[in-house]
Amino acid sequence: MKTSQSVQSLFKPFTSEKMNLSNRIVMAPMTRSFSPNGVPGQNVVDYYRRRAENEVGLIVTEGTVINHPASAHGPNVPHFYGEEALNGWAKVVEAVHEAGGRIIPQLWHVGTERKVGSLPNPEALPVGPSGLTATGEKVSEPLTEAEISAIIDAFAQAAADAKRIGFDGIELHGAHGYLIDQFFWEFTNRRTDRYGGDMLARTQFAVEIIEACRRAVGPDFPIVFRFSQWKSGAYTAKLAETPDRLAQFLKPLVDAGVDVFHCSTRRFWEPEFEGSDLNLAGWTKKLTGKPTITVGSVGLDDEFMSLFTQGKGAQNANIDGLLEQLDRGEFDLVAVGRALLVDPAWASKIHDGKVDELVPFTSDALKTLY
Ligand SMILES: Cc1cc2nc3c(=O)[nH]c(=O)nc-3n(C[C@H](O)[C@H](O)[C@H](O)COP(=O)(O)O)c2cc1C
Repeated sequence: MKTSQSVQSLFKPFTSEKMNLSNRIVMAPMTRSFSPNGVPGQNVVDYYRRRAENEVGLIVTEGTVINHPASAHGPNVPHFYGEEALNGWAKVVEAVHEAGGRIIPQLWHVGTERKVGSLPNPEALPVGPSGLTATGEKVSEPLTEAEISAIIDAFAQAAADAKRIGFDGIELHGAHGYLIDQFFWEFTNRRTDRYGGDMLARTQFAVEIIEACRRAVGPDFPIVFRFSQWKSGAYTAKLAETPDRLAQFLKPLVDAGVDVFHCSTRRFWEPEFEGSDLNLAGWTKKLTGKPTITVGSVGLDDEFMSLFTQGKGAQNANIDGLLEQLDRGEFDLVAVGRALLVDPAWASKIHDGKVDELVPFTSDALKTLY
């Protein structure tokens, strides 16, 4: 494997209205489930510090759940509420900052992706806009307006706490078929009130979350919004079939206060719509004028869902194509998932041309916080 092109464009500083970073490399959010009872400990502190020490410009933490009984789908997923968990996160922030890095938490509610009876609160039923899973199974009653309002408040409280304990911004997890995305997607959102109906109405829940977070953190604190066309459980689903529809989807989110879009795809090189080479991050940047983050199989030869469906790993691959797209300015930042999960020094090795020392990704890597 050889990266023939100059990698300088990945290591150029990023400046924008609210966020300045030393380079273009972002650690993608990856659930690790190493936080017993939701509390991140020293092993989690050290895990993130290692990435900051090794030239990752921005770390997006693993999904960390907001204060709601049904927000998590496992006991070791970190919380973003409660004194103990927030103290743990404060130590992560301190360590990353000491190493010269930047870090934002990914704020998450799993919605009906939670199985009935899941820890940590087995008695709490999964919740969603219409109580439906991605396969159409009904697991609970539709959320009431009062319940929706409590969840919005919990996102806003998490945003306020992120700012208070020193994070450099927040990322809202609006992707992959979890709660926010369940409101976006017409298959899981069958509501007839103001949260359901046409595309605009289906963005209303996200809009209210973004607005509430903005009120909680003030005008200058960066809000990153992650979204995807695909859903876990429905890979071919699309929120927007055309650029026009994508523009309609994104406008209310921009108006609500998003600063950066994190456009989740499984293969960054795939054009999003016919007739143009632009990927989802490329289109999103073009349509909104906002900075975007691309993601999906950077530095690897296979996409990530094969890990969960078949336990598959991936070999290292060159990043020449990525560098060309970055040089063309199609997107601003590049998120790296598995390559950084298995190797904290991935970015430094790329910078120093040590491509022979890159570590391939195997499913065994999930067992350790490298
Ligand atoms: C183990 C694992 C856990 C993940 N957890 C999350 C998560 O908590 N939130 C999220 O938005 N994406 C999550 N993802 C998706 C990644 O952020 C990323 O989009 C995906 O791995 C593709 O990037 P890659 O091909 O560089 O690995 C996860 C991926 C992996 C491999």
